[in-house]
Amino acid sequence: MTTGINSPAGVISPADTISAKSPGANSLGANSPGANKGPCASKGSGANKEPGSTEDIGPPIGISPLDGLLPEEPLLMMGAGPVPIPARVAAANSIVINHLGSTMSQIVEQVKRMSSYVFQSEHARILGVAGPGSAAMEMAVVNLVEPGDVVLSVCNGYFSNRLAEMSERAGADVIRLQVSGEQAVSVEDVKVHIETHRPRVLTIVQGETSNTVCNHTLPEICRLAREHDCLIIVDAVCTLSTMPLEMDAWGIDAVITGGQKGLSSIPGVSLIAFSPRAWQSTLERKTPMRHWCLDAQLANRFWYGKSYHYTAPVSGVLALHEALRLVCNETLPKRFARHLRSSKALQAGIEGMGLTLSVAEAHRLNSVVGINLPSGLESAALLDHMSSVYRVEISGSFGTDIVRIGQMGEQSRAHNIFRTLHALGSSMQSLGVSLDVPSGMSALESTIGAFKHTADTALSPVMPITQISA
Ligand SMILES: Cc1ncc(COP(=O)(O)O)c(C=O)c1O
Repeated sequence: MTTGINSPAGVISPADTISAKSPGANSLGANSPGANKGPCASKGSGANKEPGSTEDIGPPIGISPLDGLLPEEPLLMMGAGPVPIPARVAAANSIVINHLGSTMSQIVEQVKRMSSYVFQSEHARILGVAGPGSAAMEMAVVNLVEPGDVVLSVCNGYFSNRLAEMSERAGADVIRLQVSGEQAVSVEDVKVHIETHRPRVLTIVQGETSNTVCNHTLPEICRLAREHDCLIIVDAVCTLSTMPLEMDAWGIDAVITGGQKGLSSIPGVSLIAFSPRAWQSTLERKTPMRHWCLDAQLANRFWYGKSYHYTAPVSGVLALHEALRLVCNETLPKRFARHLRSSKALQAGIEGMGLTLSVAEAHRLNSVVGINLPSGLESAALLDHMSSVYRVEISGSFGTDIVRIGQMGEQSRAHNIFRTLHALGSSMQSLGVSLDVPSGMSALESTIGAFKHTADTALSPVMPITQISA
């Protein structure tokens, strides 16, 4: 499944990089500034130019083509994102078409229909965003929050704090409900805060990638917000399509996701979905929208009006189309089961080696797994060893003594978790940690086997794609 630009391991293969001998590389090389050994090249980038000088700024010297920079042996991307992308997604990402033509509008229609299924919403207004997950977060905040609004931000870590910060920048009076100790927020705490502060908007992450905590009480929190007439913005950047999220049934007002995690698409093209009530509130703003690119009503021109807002990132939208199509083909219940099985098997393998997970099971996110570093082991040394010796990349942390392994999209495949667990254990052993690597590998094997038998019966029903209106 992961071939072409992405190798079966889901990473860029040397055969797919531009070879120095290929015609494409020759033309790129010959025309590239670095290849130009003409008179201008020796002038360099003009960094030492005197102010007021009329001397031309020459092209920079010493620029390598990509195949001189990318590793010959590809890295398996098993960190907190971006994740490996399937070959069809990579191929779609290499195509450029007219952003306002009829083919593009058919693609946009299909992206919206497939997104409706993935967000589990028949009624949401779905917009693509040319930008990272953070741009979609900001789009939700700046469209729904007006200066002076009270915003309640549930803060479990780095990304949920970012939503609070964005709300402050939008002029809101932000109440931060800080959740300490790597725990999911308690429904009772949210209730007290809602009743005390009467927020107009509540922000929350479903999964906090930074410390691998999951706010599994999200459905109840959404219900509370609804009861108190409070709009709720949910960051599902690392969770969408890896675990259940039901926008309509839970009553979420804005859901945000990036392309580069659960969906296994490219970074830089994101999705946002507004509920009818949230959409109405963007129409009834009392204050003008200060943003132009992130104005949902302007974006609506492209996503629902087939007309120009800005030039859409066509290749990225095509990639997203293919990523969503693969999700729809797999179906959400099967995809959730695959993610759960893979993450639980990985977790069993980690513990089987003698390591500990950083978050207690009741609060743990399965989409990104946090592992406590044994004392005396530097995460930089571990990450370096894993990538240089085993060509496996995992992530460090945001200030705590953990490392993180992603379980999103293509990462949640048996061949990828076996390779990653082995690389983790063997690297730690080489760095002096005493571990039982075979026991860990065997725990992984037996857990994945046990899940195989129960997976089909554990599938939860979701709204079928045929029920999603165009
Ligand atoms: C939960 C969560 N929210 C938001 C973001 C921000 O996404 P991006 O880095 O694409 O802006 C991330 C990125 O890791 C994330 O994990």
